[in-house]
Amino acid sequence: MQRDYDLNLSPIQAYGSELNQVWTYLIDNAIDALADHPTPTIKLRTCQEETHLLVEIADNGPGIPPEMQPRIFEAFFTTKAVGQGTGLGLDMAYRIVRKHGGDIYFESISSNTQFYVRLPVAVLTTPRVFRRGE
Ligand SMILES: Nc1ncnc2c1ncn2[C@@H]1O[C@H](COP(=O)(O)OP(=O)(O)OP(=O)(O)O)[C@@H](O)[C@H]1O
Ligand SMILES: [Mg+2]
Repeated sequence: MQRDYDLNLSPIQAYGSELNQVWTYLIDNAIDALADHPTPTIKLRTCQEETHLLVEIADNGPGIPPEMQPRIFEAFFTTKAVGQGTGLGLDMAYRIVRKHGGDIYFESISSNTQFYVRLPVAVLTTPRVFRRGE
């Protein structure tokens, strides 16, 4: 697992345990995609794009066939064997990200699948108190 974390990100307002589920769903999918790979690699990257944080999770597995790409966020869409997957991971990830005002999408060509999660940074609404002389 390669990690490339930006350590100067703005804070976000979020349900941390829910976002943890999102990373888990995406990393579980990457691990499944790499099951038979001789040189499995998962890359995690975070960065800030002005008002949003971007989290990238990439794997060098076989990729998602183009004809399946439009369907993978659907609930119960799975290509895994019965008992291996319910097809709910990406549906849940999508709901959680949308609830946080964010966006989740991917790009996949053979041997390179990248999922992106974009989350808005917190807007500080608490007014600052001023006194004379400040
Ligand atoms: N990184 C990936 N590489 C290749 N295919 C993927 C990847 N991520 C998702 N998919 C495809 O999208 C489908 C749906 O993913 P999703 O996480 O929703 O369900 P699942 O992994 O099949 O089951 P569950 O997450 O419920 O255990 C997968 O079955 C797989 O075909
Ligand atoms: Mg899954």
